[in-house]
Amino acid sequence: MQKTTTIGFIGAGNMAYALISGLLKNGFLAKNIKLSDKDEVLLSQRQAEFGIEIFTDNTQLTAQCEVIVLAVKPQILSNICKEIQAHIRHKPLIVSIAAGVKSNDINRWLGGTAPIIRTMPNTPALLGNGATGIVANKMVNKQQKELAEQILNAVGQCFWVVNEDMLDAVTALSGSGPAYFFLMIESMSNAGVALGLDKEMAEKLSIQTALGASMMASQNQESAHELRNKVTSKNGTTQAAIESFQDQNFETIVSHAMRAAFDRAREIGFELGADE
Ligand SMILES: NC(=O)c1ccc[n+]([C@@H]2O[C@H](COP(=O)([O-])OP(=O)(O)OC[C@H]3O[C@@H](n4cnc5c(N)ncnc54)[C@H](OP(=O)(O)O)[C@@H]3O)[C@@H](O)[C@H]2O)c1
Repeated sequence: MQKTTTIGFIGAGNMAYALISGLLKNGFLAKNIKLSDKDEVLLSQRQAEFGIEIFTDNTQLTAQCEVIVLAVKPQILSNICKEIQAHIRHKPLIVSIAAGVKSNDINRWLGGTAPIIRTMPNTPALLGNGATGIVANKMVNKQQKELAEQILNAVGQCFWVVNEDMLDAVTALSGSGPAYFFLMIESMSNAGVALGLDKEMAEKLSIQTALGASMMASQNQESAHELRNKVTSKNGTTQAAIESFQDQNFETIVSHAMRAAFDRAREIGFELGADE
């Protein structure tokens, strides 16, 4: 499989938009990308922007593609799978980006023998900076895995997990993670205002600091721990702040929050997998 593979998206919303933009920027050709949705106005917009073929019938698109990306809301995924089930005799690779829905459930809805890659992207994928966990069922071959990687790397970086249960951990870390950083930005802005800064300036300083720190962490060979030690001078201001965080068990707070997200991801997986 390579960049000439026919890739069909079911659901023309935000994530499909981000993925199609990324694929086109990365050398995939518009003639090999197809899109279906029930919203004809949205489809026409996408066709005008990308020059791709569009469908209002999911089954027609399915029959013509070697890869089907399920880019609809998790709650309607079972209906979509049951709708296309009779049209996957050519064994297309199924890539689900729907949060929480397990590949066993998708496989059952598709008739039981589908090669399925399940992914857990996060919101920054919409800006090409996503972090995505990815796992394949036993029916997926090596070339299909490589292709799925290419598709997901078009909107950021993807990481294989050893088993599907680990996608709940990915959900707790990177899936929900952007909101943790938003909370940090919000809290730092409010604390800056309490210290006398103007609200707008406090927000801008917080955002720019988060961006700069993240860039330093991603572009540096040193670990986050080493970078933190480097910027923490003895008896300085940063040390005073870090000690205050540690006195209040900052690491435990983060760990409990992520455990709560992990437990909820499991529960949601069972809820979404129920057939009725
Ligand atoms: N957005 C993110 O940052 C993000 C991050 C991680 C995972 N995800 C996952 O990605 C998936 C897509 O998210 P999204 O944000 O792109 O959602 P979205 O913007 O709501 O897009 C879904 C699209 O599917 C359409 N649709 C509904 N019923 C359909 C049907 N029967 N056949 C074909 N299309 C149909 C929707 O139309 P209507 O709006 O008219 O119903 C909508 O255009 C979700 O499962 C979500 O869990 C998203």
